[in-house]
Amino acid sequence: MSKNIDWKNLGFSYVKTDYRYIAYWKDGKWSDGELTQDNTLRISEGSTALHYGQQCFEGLKAYRCKDNSINLFRPDENAKRMQRSCQRLLMPEVPTEMFIDACKQVVKANQDWIGPYGSGATLYLRPYLIGVGDNIGVHPAPEYIFSIFCCPVGAYFKGGMKPTNFIVSEYDRAAPQGTGAAKVGGNYAASLYPGKLAHDKNFSDCIYLDPQTHTKIEEVGAANFFGITKDNKFITPKSPSILPSITKYSLLYLAKERLGLETIEGDIYINQLAQFKEAGACGTAAVISPIGGIQYKDNFHVFYSETEVGEVTKKLYNELVGIQFGDIPAPENWIVKVE
Ligand code: PLP
Ligand code: COI
Repeated sequence: MSKNIDWKNLGFSYVKTDYRYIAYWKDGKWSDGELTQDNTLRISEGSTALHYGQQCFEGLKAYRCKDNSINLFRPDENAKRMQRSCQRLLMPEVPTEMFIDACKQVVKANQDWIGPYGSGATLYLRPYLIGVGDNIGVHPAPEYIFSIFCCPVGAYFKGGMKPTNFIVSEYDRAAPQGTGAAKVGGNYAASLYPGKLAHDKNFSDCIYLDPQTHTKIEEVGAANFFGITKDNKFITPKSPSILPSITKYSLLYLAKERLGLETIEGDIYINQLAQFKEAGACGTAAVISPIGGIQYKDNFHVFYSETEVGEVTKKLYNELVGIQFGDIPAPENWIVKVE
């Protein structure tokens, strides 16, 4: 039985659900993970996650299908990305099989928190891995915790599939050869202040330019950028400091294979927005969020009016979300059933 929630009006907020998964790494190995109802952690005051940002996280969703079954979307890709984050921050990797099994356990134990099919709500899973244990020097931690909790969610950017506006930030979320491609907390700490400046001016979030030259689009807050050119090409930025979005790579595939568009990962100069007829942000939380306009210095570039959404963006959205909810056949291995 679904929980008694106003599923259609859910935003993106913390909700304490019933169970979370937790496993401990010590003496070179992971413990058997288990589910717990306790949503708090007790860790050493010397934990590297608290002082030196030695931690990483992931985000993926569980979807309720028409036949009541439950889908996970490409969890192996989240497992692999978390492994790359661990390599960058010298943390022990969680094997893919253990990661997917933990996701399944959490979803199964909290299945009443998944929005009913058709409500638009999903169950957002937040896997994270933190360095813990007694420590004071700048070293990798002696012990680690891997946990996954989940929250029922709706739209991340207010408006969902309605276009909203963004502003280009003067700040960077990551350095050119830094940790931008890893999903680590430090990038998000760096984004809080620029994000606040954007929200204070009534923008949905800020757009980051490449940290080396500040001329090319990198990220849209906690999402990747894509644009559809006037001659129907799907373009998305390529850079070593962008988070490799699983949604973005899925859209690159769908745009080419299902919509027959030419796709390009390349440079997108902030002073060349006029080449696009449509633009959007994409990510697990953002899904596809159309961009209405972009403020850059004194110039406001408009893609759409307040309510209109571009044709190609709509098609991509329907294809992606149709696959996630099991209404449209998925490319091989994209869907993992929770049974
Ligand atoms: N970029 C950033 C900075 C993010 O936090 C996210 C969210 O995960 C994304 C892009 C989108 O990535 P994905 O599609 O894998 O969720
Ligand atoms: C996600 O889309 O999973 C993200 O990580 C966004 C999040 C930081 C809210």
